[in-house]
Amino acid sequence: MNSEAELFPTSPNNTRLDLYLGDCVAGLANIPEKSVDLVVTSPPYNLGIKYSKYKDQRTPEEYLTWSCEWAEAVKRVLKDDGALFLNVAGSPKQPYMPHELILRLRDIFILQNTLHWIKSISVKTPDVPHLSAGHFKPINSKRYITDCHEYLFHLTKTGDNALDRLAVGVPYTYKSNIARWGHTDGKDKRCRGNNWFVPYQTIKSRKGERPHPATFPIELAENCIKLHNTEASQTTMLDPFLGIGHSASAAVQQNVEHFIGFEIDEEYLNVACERLATQPIKEI
Ligand SMILES: C[S@@+](CC[C@H](N)C(=O)[O-])C[C@H]1O[C@@H](n2cnc3c(N)ncnc32)[C@H](O)[C@@H]1O
Repeated sequence: MNSEAELFPTSPNNTRLDLYLGDCVAGLANIPEKSVDLVVTSPPYNLGIKYSKYKDQRTPEEYLTWSCEWAEAVKRVLKDDGALFLNVAGSPKQPYMPHELILRLRDIFILQNTLHWIKSISVKTPDVPHLSAGHFKPINSKRYITDCHEYLFHLTKTGDNALDRLAVGVPYTYKSNIARWGHTDGKDKRCRGNNWFVPYQTIKSRKGERPHPATFPIELAENCIKLHNTEASQTTMLDPFLGIGHSASAAVQQNVEHFIGFEIDEEYLNVACERLATQPIKEI
């Protein structure tokens, strides 16, 4: 699964892709109210990440105020049973920001679920004495342990959205549980839980294969689409912070009917459009 074609599938399907160049808050004002089913996005984290255009270093208050602005714009276009999957992270030196952000968004959305995107994990089981998997990026520190996870907040308008938990379910390790637990209905699948191990695809060159400093894997967004529980072929999905388009690739993979993306940086948007074989829309 390493070639670019596999990383960015442009499978022949019917997903309508509208990818806009420009500020998402301005662009969202042109999207009809309550027209979007699902938002999967990762905004800048305000951790000083070096994007090619966007400056990721506002004062904390500026960042939180701006976050409420785009969140309100997202809420306006979301249907009443729509959901926002929001991927954010802190850093060892700035651990509070994701928590401050989610507290601030409390006036706008209800936090229905908190998931953890696990990038690297080490496990020990009775059968496997030691297994490490995923993308481990070591830090050189006596104070901090290496951070191997990010948050994925599931935000809704009512806190009451039904989910298709088994669409991202996992098989039982001990099959005797299938008969023992009545709720299984005889099926070899259980809820995955809120720790999602989703490693990055292995690449040889970041510049050529993943030319963006802060991406999420396509599979992470695909899981959100499956969990959200609307028929993909009738779903309108949005990513206001598109980057190089992993959420759009997930939409294509899952046969989502209509995908809308905004990206302020032409360089990143062009990469997304090239990989998705579509044209950027330059007027918002
Ligand atoms: C964390 S990255 C998203 C990466 C994306 N999930 C991916 O996998 O490629 C955030 C992106 O938001 C873009 N951005 C920043 N401010 C924006 C704005 N006001 N409107 C639209 N995009 C913006 C940045 O240029 C950056 O590419």
